[in-house]
Amino acid sequence: MSGNDEVVSEAQIAVHWREEELFYPPTRFVGQANASDPAILERFSEDNFPECFKEYGDLLEWDHYWHTTLDTSNPPFWKWFVGGKLNASYNCVDRHLKRDRNKAAIVWVPELEEDDTVILTYQELYQRVNEMAAMLRDFCGLKAGDRVTLHLPMVPELPITMLACARLGVVHSEVFAGFSGAACGGRIHDSGSRVLITIDGYYRNGELLDHKEKADEALAVAKSEGSEVEQVLVWRRNPGKYASNTPMVAGRDVFVDELLQSYKHQVVAPVSMPAEAPLFLMYTSGSTGKPKGCQHSTGGYLSYVTGTAKYYQDIHPEDTYWCLADIGWITGHSYIVYGPLSLGTTTVMYEGVPTYPDAGRVWRIAERLGVTIFHTAPTTIRMLRKLGPEEPKKYNYHFKHMTTVGEPIEPEVWRWYHDVVGKNEAVVVDTWWQTENGGFLGSTLPGIQPMKPGSCGPGVLGVFPVVLDEEGNEVEAGSGRAGNICIRNPWPGILQTIYGQPDRFVQVYYEKYCRDKNSKDWRDWPYFAGDGAMKAADGYFRILGRVDDVINVAGHRLGTKELESASLTVPEVAEAAAVPVIDEIRGRVVEMYVSLKPGLSPSKEISDKVAAAIEVEIGKIARPKNVWIVPDMPKTRSGKIMRRVIAGISNFTDPGDLTTLANAEVVEGIRHSVQSEKLAKGDVPRELSPQEVAEIQSYGHAD
Ligand code: PRX
Repeated sequence: MSGNDEVVSEAQIAVHWREEELFYPPTRFVGQANASDPAILERFSEDNFPECFKEYGDLLEWDHYWHTTLDTSNPPFWKWFVGGKLNASYNCVDRHLKRDRNKAAIVWVPELEEDDTVILTYQELYQRVNEMAAMLRDFCGLKAGDRVTLHLPMVPELPITMLACARLGVVHSEVFAGFSGAACGGRIHDSGSRVLITIDGYYRNGELLDHKEKADEALAVAKSEGSEVEQVLVWRRNPGKYASNTPMVAGRDVFVDELLQSYKHQVVAPVSMPAEAPLFLMYTSGSTGKPKGCQHSTGGYLSYVTGTAKYYQDIHPEDTYWCLADIGWITGHSYIVYGPLSLGTTTVMYEGVPTYPDAGRVWRIAERLGVTIFHTAPTTIRMLRKLGPEEPKKYNYHFKHMTTVGEPIEPEVWRWYHDVVGKNEAVVVDTWWQTENGGFLGSTLPGIQPMKPGSCGPGVLGVFPVVLDEEGNEVEAGSGRAGNICIRNPWPGILQTIYGQPDRFVQVYYEKYCRDKNSKDWRDWPYFAGDGAMKAADGYFRILGRVDDVINVAGHRLGTKELESASLTVPEVAEAAAVPVIDEIRGRVVEMYVSLKPGLSPSKEISDKVAAAIEVEIGKIARPKNVWIVPDMPKTRSGKIMRRVIAGISNFTDPGDLTTLANAEVVEGIRHSVQSEKLAKGDVPRELSPQEVAEIQSYGHAD
């Protein structure tokens, strides 16, 4: 953690892990793996950088081949495959028609078990993408370079719309459907979209949610920020039947299923885009300010997700691949849509909640569809383990490969995943990366490198991570000390910039460790990932979590600033601070501390208003577990809120040195009221590991 004198940085905390036992892949897996010859490690060695990435570029079909693999003339705005031209939709759809026209491209499983599974062959996907592209071009007037906001849940219309945009070179900006209308509105404004594509409703936990109501809210927020949306395209979950209570606005809102009738059988030539043309934006939270629109390129990004999906997920065209993430997150973009479809495999999409209607649902789907590769997040694994630890044994499915992503996974949870879910037959890859990265950064090559529970593995092919201390010195492998994990070199999947904010891009990712701002040598520009990590003697990294003001709740990044600003929209609230609380299932959850304006007394009504404000501004996923109203925040003499003190109270850890506080006397009162209420509710965290204690004790910047 940084920014606060009193706080010991993670790099200084000597932490000693129990070294975990290594697991080796089953011989049967190695025999069929896309990468089983260690020579691949040599091909992607630092000596062969950047030309090694030609191998990934060559997995695509290019309209024009590139002349420069990596252009570093304007650091840190790296350019990959310069001179090349291609179309992402063509690479994910058209090029498979010749061989695999009638093979399933997307298998969509609706949440209600009695509803039919929908299978889209590559030929059908081609038809539907073309018709949608024709509509976007002719009805909306969209052209290459325009941005469009999508606010769509896990329905096949989402990848269809993304690929239709890509066909035209239109930049899609998908907002996770669980985000609120207000959050969507902010992203519409930031991206300058004049078209919003949404849906009337979708199923979640057996209920058909009204989603279209969020569109009206989104448009109002976008307008208040100065952006006018001209068209709202509304898909219908059940074509012909409108499932929302919100009226359609004449002249603005249209039903996509109706309109598409006029575009039947139309074919749109894929627009040949420069490798460096943006393919999409994906917003994510950071430590300061509003969410950042990570801009991903067409050629570099698509090459990177194709190459990593091939080697790290071992996707073969004949696999049935199922990633349980949501396409509204980067994992879904890269490893439900672009990577698997570019490799011509069958990708499974599931609409709903993994435990609906019971803890066996996921395994029933896996058995029925014959899934061979499975991909999910630790939160889901923890949830499935808690609700149905023996459930996987009841179903006759066989995975050859499983991925985990998004959060650190506890070794005992990893072992359940490997032994029970994977039935000791599947390799597991723990993949560490971020929205900004396009694809995996740290993982094991499943046919070659052994697995180690709780560690993601070494840097992936052609990616060279390093752990640096606050001064920029390398923290030795095997030293038992943690530091900031950085990537020494650029890679093709890296974000090009933060949309519209190039200075912020440089500042957030490069300022901390750049050795020479005038240097055009990539070696002077390590990428700062914002995660704490430790490197073991064998070169494997153990990721400890964010070092900035971001709380990772069930794999979703929540910026504390956003949570605090949302709380401050409640008129009674004077000050607000968000802290992470260790949670058995969701990894971390959020608790809010607020103090009220003078003369007001605490009430349940006010805490409910704070929780509701967070739902409105961000979405249900950000709802705090508790909102504590305190008479005053613990503060330094300069008036800064000491978050580590209240984080300690919420987690029942020692709040640490209080001598620097201006009002140390408030701490005991807060501790007493918060902890006695928690004890009364039985809401006490499990025993924390030393690393977790260190995380809490060093949490937060002073404001
Ligand atoms: O803290 C790391 C954690 O998730 C953050 C990135 O979140 P997001 O941009 O939403 O992307 C998630 C999916 C790529 C990281 O900074 N994280 C991601 N993967 C892992 C992880 N922590 C530990 N182990 C992982 N495998």
